[in-house]
Amino acid sequence: MKEQLVKVFKEKFGSEGDIRSYFAPGRVNLIGEHTDYNGGHVFPCALTIGTYAIVRKREDRNFRFYSTNFESLGVIEASLDNLKYDKALDWTNYPLGVVWAFIEKGYPVDCGFDMLLFGNIPNGSGLSSSASVEVVTGVALRDLFGYDDISMIDIALFGQYSENNFNGVNCGIMDQFAIAMGKKDQAIFLDTSDLSYTYAPIKLADEKIVIACSNKKRGLGDSKYNERRAECEEALAELQTKLDIKALGELSEEEFEANKDLIKSEVRQRRAKHAVYENQRTLKAVDALKAGNLEEFGKLMNASHVSLRDDYEVTGIELDTLVENAWEQEGVIGSRMTGAGFGGCTVSIVKTDCVDKFIENVGKAYLEKIGYAADFYVVEIGDGGRVLA
Ligand code: GLA
Repeated sequence: MKEQLVKVFKEKFGSEGDIRSYFAPGRVNLIGEHTDYNGGHVFPCALTIGTYAIVRKREDRNFRFYSTNFESLGVIEASLDNLKYDKALDWTNYPLGVVWAFIEKGYPVDCGFDMLLFGNIPNGSGLSSSASVEVVTGVALRDLFGYDDISMIDIALFGQYSENNFNGVNCGIMDQFAIAMGKKDQAIFLDTSDLSYTYAPIKLADEKIVIACSNKKRGLGDSKYNERRAECEEALAELQTKLDIKALGELSEEEFEANKDLIKSEVRQRRAKHAVYENQRTLKAVDALKAGNLEEFGKLMNASHVSLRDDYEVTGIELDTLVENAWEQEGVIGSRMTGAGFGGCTVSIVKTDCVDKFIENVGKAYLEKIGYAADFYVVEIGDGGRVLA
């Protein structure tokens, strides 16, 4: 893969100089959805698919970008002297945002670079192609400019900072953290209130993780993501009129039920309920997994989807069709939407010998109801962002 991409890089940008290669994965979240900006827990893992970047520093202050995923866009050019979000710059706003974030955080970037990008994560699928681009750019900048004191967690934080402040999406830290810190065959149990984390082995002897991509395209920026976040913040402020809490993630189910009437709208009550219950579900799910109780883990995944569908309202007909059909299939341990929602993907844990039938049946039901096909991926859990030797 790398050799092929270096070849394309040389064709586009010339073969001279120090050309370096980097990779950052995509991620799938197993449970703990829309909890990361509520001070709750998440349980994502990095995938083996992701984004490859081939990069060479330039002597001037210009950038040239090319993505083999968007060949028709050709080479996109930008300059260090004009670092600000520009719709016309398309996907390059993600790497440019990370350059901007490095500078903001006190790590000067004093020259431009040429960058070729290739991603084998389906774009806009909700497997975090944008965070993957951010982390791969962060890994590249750290290496190219010799900033050895920057940790992988810093790279995740710089990525989130750029997405929040350069690209205008108020995402939490989950995606960048999972992508920066991923480990083969392990999920990351992350407490987003203080970024403490542990790895939890995902030992699937007879099961596979199957991702179904709805092919309903969405970008976080145009979605109701920021609106949900604002609803949670408002609900928190209402609860804070009586409770001494910093985040919804601090509440147990009982504490929430006893105080929910402080939240003056029924809609905001449901949003906050999801945030509180989903956080508790995540804690229970990780306990179940540690106890070897995969069946319980699956039930909690299913309950997560119901809550995202009914209380948080971020699913939609496409994701519901995939998940509700998945629940009916033989050998399905659990199935839910994953990521922000409003389109994107579902994640299911399926008995290995039932995977083919699962894909066939869910795929058929989806096509019949929605009118276009879903794509299915049997995925592996991989390592986080890195320099490719
Ligand atoms: C997106 C965001 C994450 C997280 C999820 C929902 O992926 O980037 O920070 O909020 O949605 O769990």
